[in-house]
Amino acid sequence: MTATAGVVALRYEPGALHAIDQTELPWREHHLVLRTAADVADAIKRLAIRGAPLIGVAGAYGVALELGRDPAGLVPACELLATARPTAVNLAGAVDRVRAAAQAATGDPAAAALAEARAIHAEEEAASAEIAAHGAELLAEAGARRILTHCNTGALAAPGRGTALAVIAELAERGSLEKALATEARPLLQGARLTVYELAHLGIPHELVVDSAAPGLLAAGAADAVIVGCDRVAANGDVANKVGTYGLALAAQAARIPFVVAGPTSTIDFATATGAEIVIEERDPEEVRQAAGQRLTLEGTPCRNPAFDVTPAHLITALVTERGVLRSPDAASLSRLRAAPGV
Ligand code: MRU
Repeated sequence: MTATAGVVALRYEPGALHAIDQTELPWREHHLVLRTAADVADAIKRLAIRGAPLIGVAGAYGVALELGRDPAGLVPACELLATARPTAVNLAGAVDRVRAAAQAATGDPAAAALAEARAIHAEEEAASAEIAAHGAELLAEAGARRILTHCNTGALAAPGRGTALAVIAELAERGSLEKALATEARPLLQGARLTVYELAHLGIPHELVVDSAAPGLLAAGAADAVIVGCDRVAANGDVANKVGTYGLALAAQAARIPFVVAGPTSTIDFATATGAEIVIEERDPEEVRQAAGQRLTLEGTPCRNPAFDVTPAHLITALVTERGVLRSPDAASLSRLRAAPGV
């Protein structure tokens, strides 16, 4: 179960995946009941379920659900789910794991698929706790008490307490946090809608800033560190994350403060050599023309809407995973991490 102070992001019950519809937060807590791979793929595409680790877990359950309904449905379900969103490697990675488990099953493939989905869910939950502990140690050591974060990386984005927001929550629990600064994360406002919602539920002191205020605030000394999540880490340490992350990394470098990325090893893609090869999802221009359902500009205004950007490894002070902290991550340190026992 993935929850933040009573809010359940995702829960599997026999025959259905129950998910809070994140497009309706913070105004309404509406739960979706998803019974097919198509239901789950649709929820992922429209960001009702979102965040790299969470869409991986949802995709895994989606395969299991479909196999439970139709023993011949494995291959089309995997295709549909793995391609629902292109940037977070967790989605295709988890779907592939469940497909392999079903295909290798000596008994009931649907039962094997469900067991694998549950295992992925449990692994991500355990990873979240480790990331929180490692990240909090790193930032406390650096004396960082005012932390800026981007998009939403809490329990609504990943099982357990999340990734970057889990680090912030852990710092708060240890009494080492003065406040969190949350960016809005236009166009879909995951920061304004979801991170603020989580921080408020957790009772963590926070301030919301518009995206364009962040670099100036960092330059003026308003934060001691920046911490963000990740959707795909390339083999050389380049990181794709929510659009706006690259600008924050540049601003953190100019302000001489740590820029930290937190994510589970399931988000590292050793098959992608550099950030240049990461497919960046380009979403519906209508998302840019509107904010929270209100039209902002002229109808039909041409827009670009990349959902993510790539931050080069050299701007990243540290990558925090469940296996520990890689300072100045690069191809060599990532390949050592890969070679470590259990990777
Ligand atoms: O488009 P979204 O809301 O799925 O984007 C989410 C992010 O960019 C997060 O930072 C990332 O998935 C890490 S979530 C723990």
